[in-house]
Amino acid sequence: MSDVQVHPVQDAWKERALVNAEQYEEMYKRSIDDPDGFWKEHMQRLDWIKEPTKIKDVNFNYPDISIKWFEDGELNVSANCIDRHLKDKGNQTAIIWEPDSPDEDAQHITYQQLHSHVCKFANVLKEMGVGKGDRVVIYLPMIPQAAFAMLACARIGAIHSIVFAGFSPDALADRINDCDAKLLITADFAPRGGRKTPLKTNADKALAKCGDDVKCLVIKRVGDDVTMQDGRDFWLHEMEQAVANDCEPEVMNAEDPLFVLYTSGSTGKPKGVVHTSGGYLLWTSMTQEIVFDYHPGDIYWCGADIGWVTGHSYIVYGPLANGATTLMFEGVPTYPDASRFWQVIDKHKVNQFYTAPTAIRALMGKGDSFVEGHDLSTLKVLGTVGEPINPEAWDWYFHKIGKGTTPIVDTWWQTETGGHLITPLPGATPLKPGSATNPFFGVRPVMLEAESGKVIETTEAEGVLAIADSWPGQMRTVYGDHERFANTYFQQYQGYYFSGDGARRDADGYYWITGRVDDVINVSGHRMGTAEVESALVSHPKVSEAAVVGYPHDVKGQGIYCYVTLMSGEEPSEELRKELRNHVREEIGPIASPDMIQFAPGLPKTRSGKIMRRILRKIAEDDFGSLGDTSTLAEPEVVDDLIDNRQNKK
Ligand code: WTA
Repeated sequence: MSDVQVHPVQDAWKERALVNAEQYEEMYKRSIDDPDGFWKEHMQRLDWIKEPTKIKDVNFNYPDISIKWFEDGELNVSANCIDRHLKDKGNQTAIIWEPDSPDEDAQHITYQQLHSHVCKFANVLKEMGVGKGDRVVIYLPMIPQAAFAMLACARIGAIHSIVFAGFSPDALADRINDCDAKLLITADFAPRGGRKTPLKTNADKALAKCGDDVKCLVIKRVGDDVTMQDGRDFWLHEMEQAVANDCEPEVMNAEDPLFVLYTSGSTGKPKGVVHTSGGYLLWTSMTQEIVFDYHPGDIYWCGADIGWVTGHSYIVYGPLANGATTLMFEGVPTYPDASRFWQVIDKHKVNQFYTAPTAIRALMGKGDSFVEGHDLSTLKVLGTVGEPINPEAWDWYFHKIGKGTTPIVDTWWQTETGGHLITPLPGATPLKPGSATNPFFGVRPVMLEAESGKVIETTEAEGVLAIADSWPGQMRTVYGDHERFANTYFQQYQGYYFSGDGARRDADGYYWITGRVDDVINVSGHRMGTAEVESALVSHPKVSEAAVVGYPHDVKGQGIYCYVTLMSGEEPSEELRKELRNHVREEIGPIASPDMIQFAPGLPKTRSGKIMRRILRKIAEDDFGSLGDTSTLAEPEVVDDLIDNRQNKK
């Protein structure tokens, strides 16, 4: 890869950076050689009610996986995110809220106001019978109350589980039932891109599939009529009138769960990823500050949705733990037009901006005219997350948005990791477009041979990416199924945490993530299990069998390609294609909407009946020349049919 352009750290950065190159080397070495000493020092960035004496207690030996950090420590996450800032920063803005429509006013919520909103919300939760350890599902638009709800749960020790507002009623019901939630928090409608999703109606459909004892707390966002069920549904604004302004934070153990977040895997239903209080908060706070080089007074904007882990860690917990000003945006990059991001950056004088490659590609595709006329000079750091960023998109982001001077942090991490694991630091790391570069403190990446699982010792390497030791922000278990946790992440390559990603390490030791090596596809930076889409398809009465694979998509990174075999007697048609697409949207949500549906009279299978996805992937990629060994196919002619159909469609 001799044509890779390296962007050295600029001189100005060597001065201002929280961590420069020498400090990075020295701190990284110490974090690996003496993790206990390193983390004993850095845990001081949190306010502990009882300071931990035990730092790390980890077993990566399958099947007895056990991960504990700061296990005798006590703290409260909401007090760390709010109360401790009141003395010096009570009047500083904690949250800037920018609504979907630029015609509606933005809001600035100070730390003092945040305190009173969260305390009231917490008291409402208590009033509704929610206590320490209870689960609360949150299904909300990107409104300040979403952050209040999370922090209110944390304040009383309840465990929140946020479900992205784009998920369907069925997906919502599954999650409420899986974590046995007591309460669902939702809003009347969710405005997005000028449209309104009827959240409360969706919630009603979901609750019809849940136990009678699940209550529903409703936030008025739009004000249009919704149906309220007596005894089950309550308005937040009404409940708040009757509660006190103050609420003592609950004393929590460092290892008490903070939240559950469902994410797609390669098999079966989504897993409830469990994060705990102490290690997670330490990790998100430290990475938010150092990776974005956040200085007091900076205006920081992470453009994710709180329905995903990026929103949890880098809109709410990380920045608020640091007393930062964090911007929350309700809308989409292209409404009212493709200049919305740049307009918001100018309007609020944003210093750090964090988004996904898919958004960058989409905006790049709209043309530079939407960027022109915007100042953008307040920007100091740009970030990306969610999928590998192609060098063209990196260059556009760097030159058009960052004016050729603003470093880009390409942060590799996962729902499971809590926060960044491999990422540049703006003042320490020379950048290579498309590479996530180097590990953060305490992270020990290893490259393994995919088949044998052997560690590749050479610097230059290509294989699967695993992590050799725990870090404080690591997930602790799958909710209600510790065995699944061990099997998913620790069984295949024993002694390591297996990320599910493939990677390459270059001669400088830089990591380049190449994408998932399991049956998970990455659609617009969102993880989608192919098995989930398949089971949605086969639940349609006209479908007998389905196989789903990812294929390269210009904007989304990967698109969803479905091969569908119909029940005998059913005829393929454009109408049926539409019907199936809608069916998947209803079962899972619009994010799972198939990009391509190919009707297939048969699927390529081995003689033992296993679908050969490798071949299906190649066909979807239009790569017919390298189908590999097809000799084990039960009916080789099936493949010719599929290729004919694929080609005819063009
Ligand atoms: C992918 C999102 C390349 C990867 C925080 C990972 C990336 C999955 C990057 C996790 C990156 C995330 N470069 N690939 N910078 N960041 N990924 O759980 O495949 O929604 O396993 O977490 O996204 O997705 P998740």
